[in-house]
Formats: sequence, structure tokens, C-alpha cells
Amino acid sequence: MNETIAQLKQRFAQAFVAAFGETWSDTDPILVAASNPKFGDFQSNVAMSLTKKLSKPPRTIAELIVQNLDLSDICEPPSIAGPGFINLRLQTSYLETQLKAIQSDPRLGVEPVSQPQRVIVDYPSPNIAKEMHVGHLRPSVIGDCIARILEFMGHEVLRLSHIGDWGTPFGMLIAYLQEAYPEALQSTEGLDLGDLATFYRAAKKRFDQDETFQEAARQAVVKLQAGDEETLQAWKIVCDLSNRTNRKIFDLMGLSDQIQERGESFYNPFLPNVLEELEQLGLLVEDAGAKCVFLDGFTNKEGNPLPLIVQKSGGGYNYATTDLAAIRYRVQVDDAQRVIYPVGVEQTNHFIQIFQVGKKAGWITDDRTFVHLPLGLILGEDGKKLKSRSGDAPRMVDLLTEAINRARTDLETRLQQEGRQESPEFIEHVSQVVGISAIKYADLSQSLTSNYIFNLDRMLALQGNTAPYMLYAYVRVQGISRKGGIEFEQLGNDAAIVLQEEEELVLAKHLLQLDQVLAAVEADLFPNRLCEYLFELSQKFNRFYDRCPILPAEEPQRTSRLILADLTARTIKLGLSLLGIPVLERM
Ligand code: ARG
Repeated sequence: MNETIAQLKQRFAQAFVAAFGETWSDTDPILVAASNPKFGDFQSNVAMSLTKKLSKPPRTIAELIVQNLDLSDICEPPSIAGPGFINLRLQTSYLETQLKAIQSDPRLGVEPVSQPQRVIVDYPSPNIAKEMHVGHLRPSVIGDCIARILEFMGHEVLRLSHIGDWGTPFGMLIAYLQEAYPEALQSTEGLDLGDLATFYRAAKKRFDQDETFQEAARQAVVKLQAGDEETLQAWKIVCDLSNRTNRKIFDLMGLSDQIQERGESFYNPFLPNVLEELEQLGLLVEDAGAKCVFLDGFTNKEGNPLPLIVQKSGGGYNYATTDLAAIRYRVQVDDAQRVIYPVGVEQTNHFIQIFQVGKKAGWITDDRTFVHLPLGLILGEDGKKLKSRSGDAPRMVDLLTEAINRARTDLETRLQQEGRQESPEFIEHVSQVVGISAIKYADLSQSLTSNYIFNLDRMLALQGNTAPYMLYAYVRVQGISRKGGIEFEQLGNDAAIVLQEEEELVLAKHLLQLDQVLAAVEADLFPNRLCEYLFELSQKFNRFYDRCPILPAEEPQRTSRLILADLTARTIKLGLSLLGIPVLERM
């Protein structure tokens, strides 16, 4: 509908000129979706906004506009309601033509943006001296979705995982590797460290038991930062192990395979230079031995300005320094116009601070947008931060595995009830897709900033705004094609679409709104808008399916309804794929 709206605006501009003169051509027609479908599809509120300027009653203004408004190829004759609302209803034949146009378009009418940008999405960015945990669920799921949508809209997207791969937490792991696998430093051939979890647990056990080991771990950090060859080698082995483990999780979650690791260590060589630049700009202040940048808007209890530390008194750099180097690199080398950080809300201050320094330093110029998307927390049933039985942050693998297992139980029960026999491969595949999709969809359908309770029963429900509901809507359409022996691709581009019943019209209008929804998500980065759109689409489809017989209908209704069903399925498939969710043909 983006194009329709653009056309309507243009016609309004012509009417303004004809009714009030050349100078009125830029007036905003204040077009909005009709408040009630009874009144039509769109409504213009412009008449009320012009009463003062034209010193005429709004109804008179509305009449003058309508007299000069030529929409005969798009809408029914406009009507005026209340104080001066102009109501517009799209012609059925217009809708039919629009639908025909998207039928043969693999993008379903969604035009790529006219000015593609270079965009960086910083995700999922785990800290790799530890296993991935619940804290990285939202960044993974939301980052992946945003990257997919922006790419689909025509932008060039770089997916950068800003992994925490440097510093103190590695000391313990390096020391353990050196102690337990000394041969690894000679050659990693045939080396099997098991999975990170086992390795990490063993290292932690040593650390907790032995003071000399603790000292070795501390020494390892010092040596690592001093660039000692052997320590660096051990560090690299540990990083590889961790990245390999995480890749498996990415695969299981179906995250894009285009994610690049560009972690904190990557920026090490640039840190002294970042400080130098800040120094030259006169931004650096020494405070109790540490080097700081003072920030606007951050004060302590006494009202004194608070600094952002960029070099600790011992000379070490920190998370903020690295992120500043990353900002500079993303501007100067990557030349990114938009950089998006989907990261937990608890890091809000960090991002406000580094963006502010980035601007003061002249790296983030007005033509570039750096945004932090402050993601709400995932809570347990008790309304507190979700915890595992041991009281730690639940491991990502455990959450995913539990969802898959629950999906499998649900599926097996359903198969039994329906007396269906399916192969073990089918059961495995469906459980995995349903389990993972349920978690992802539940996350994406929440607003980014709100906290939500992790409840697998609700996420896996077949009813409501859930992944299984959406997947099932798709399966339902595929069922029609199987039952009728119909190949949707063969419906033919010359077959007519005829919209007669109310349910058909409602569904048709919804199908035509995909481009508006994606344009909105492209701008404000709220994936829950797309979930909402898809959920309403399946509801509208279900109403259509209940009221309008498809296979038993006479021609031309039959083919027309099959096309509507196919367009619904393709819209769901495309929409879900942008959420990072695959469809199932059967479930
Ligand atoms: N590694 C960080 C964490 O796990 C997240 C990094 C987010 N990205 C960034 N550029 N700071 O909390």
C-alpha cells in the first residue's frame, strides 16, 4: 500500500492547488488508516487543521477539497463525515489489480529502499570465556531478525559479533590448558578438549582448590596482555574451542551463517591510538591516576560530573575503550551509516556514554546513526531474572534443548490422539523447528524494551500469538493444495482475482499491507510489528477459510480463493523467514 498512499497524497496535493492555490501544494493531507472499517480504508483529517489558516469552517474546506479531488481510478467517491473527515474507500477492482501484481512478485510487492546504506548489526556478542547463556538469547534472536529485514530491504548488512575474548576471565582457562594439555601448545592436531562446558568446569575446580593455580591464572593474564607468544597461543586455542561450541548453538538456533567474530581482542592494536586522539582533542583528563573523559549529563550524588574511564591507573584498557575503538573502526574503515546494538537494557549507560564520546571525538557525525536497542530482561515465573536450579544464568543449550523436548512431547501426544504414524526423522525435525521457533517468536513478539516471563507452555501453545499458531496457519494452506491436488505455482497469472465476500476483502487488504509494515520495521526496528501483522493475517485467513468455501466453489471464485490462500501462505513464509523462522509443510 505504500505506493497507493503516495498516489493518494499526490492527488490531494493537486486538489489543494486547485481549491486554494499554488502555495498549498505542500500541505500534509494527514492521511491515516480509517478508525473504523465501516467508514472505509483511509481518512484525511486535513480540513480540521486548515480552519484557522483558511478562516472557513472545516466542513466547507472538506467539500472544497473533495470537489477538486480526482480519485476515480483508486477509490469510491469520497464522503465527508462529522466535522470534516474525508473518508476514502478503495475500489474492489483496484484491490484486485494490486493483488494480481504481487502474485507474480517473489518480494510480494515490497520494494527495496531507494538509498541502501551500509549497516552493522552488533550481535550476538557473547563473552567466550564462559558458555552462552540466557543473557544472549534476545540479542541473538533480535539481532538476527533485524539483520534479515534490513538486508531484505536492500541494505548492505555486516553482522559483527563483538565477543568478549580478552582479559581476566581467560587467565584461568589459559592456565588450565597449559597445565592439563601441555602438548596442545606444540600441536593442536588430534587435540580433543571436549566441549567448553567440561573444560570450563574442570578449570574452575582447579581454580577454587589451589592457590598456586590462582597465581598461575593471574600471571597468564599479565603475560597475555604483554603479548607473550606462548600465552597468546594458549589463548587462541581456548577461543577456538569456545567459538566452535558457540557456532553449534548458532546453527541450532538457525542464526545467519554470515555472522563474523570481531571481538574485543581485534581492537587491541588500536587502543593506544584511540587514547592519543582523545588526548589531542583535549578530551582526556587524568583523575586519580586513571585517564577519563568527562560526560555531559552524568553526575554523582554531590552533583559533580562523572567521568568515563578509558585507561585504568595501572595502564589497562577496559570495555569502554574497546567499544570506542570499535566505533572509530566502524566509521573510518567499515564506513557504516547505521550501527545497531541490540544489547540488554542494563548496558544503557554504557552506550549513552560511548556514543557521547564518539560524537565529541568527531567519529559519529550527524550523517551516521548509532543506536542501542535496550532489550528487556527474561524473567522466571517469580518475576525475577530467570535462573537455573543452581542459581546461575541458565545456559543457552539447556533452554533450547528443553524447548525442543517439550515440543517433541506435545507432538507425540498429538500424533497419538490423531492416530498418525510418522518417521523418527519427521518427529525430530518438527520438534526442533517448533521448539526453537517458539522461543524466537515469543521473544520477537514482545516489545524490545519490556521484560517478559519465560513460559514454554505459553510459547508452545497452538492458539494465540505463537510460533506454532503461525506455522500451523501455513500448514493449513498447504493442506488445501494437497487435498485438492493443486500446484499453487500453476494457478496461472491470467486467472482473475474476484473479491466479493467481506472476508475476502479484509484478507486482501491485509495482504497488501506487508510493504508498509516492513517499511515501519526498517525505520524503528520493532520486530513485534511484523509478528503482529502475521498474527492478524492468520486470523483473517482463518475467518476467510471458515466462511468462504475454496475447493467446492464455482469458478472464477475457486481459483481466485486459491490465489488468496497461496498469497497468504507466501506472505507467512516470507514474514517468518525474516523473523528467522522456517516453515513446515506438515506438522
Ligand atoms: N559481550 C558483551 C556482553 O556479553 C556484549 C557486547 C555488546 N556489544 C558491544 N559492542 N558492546 O555483555
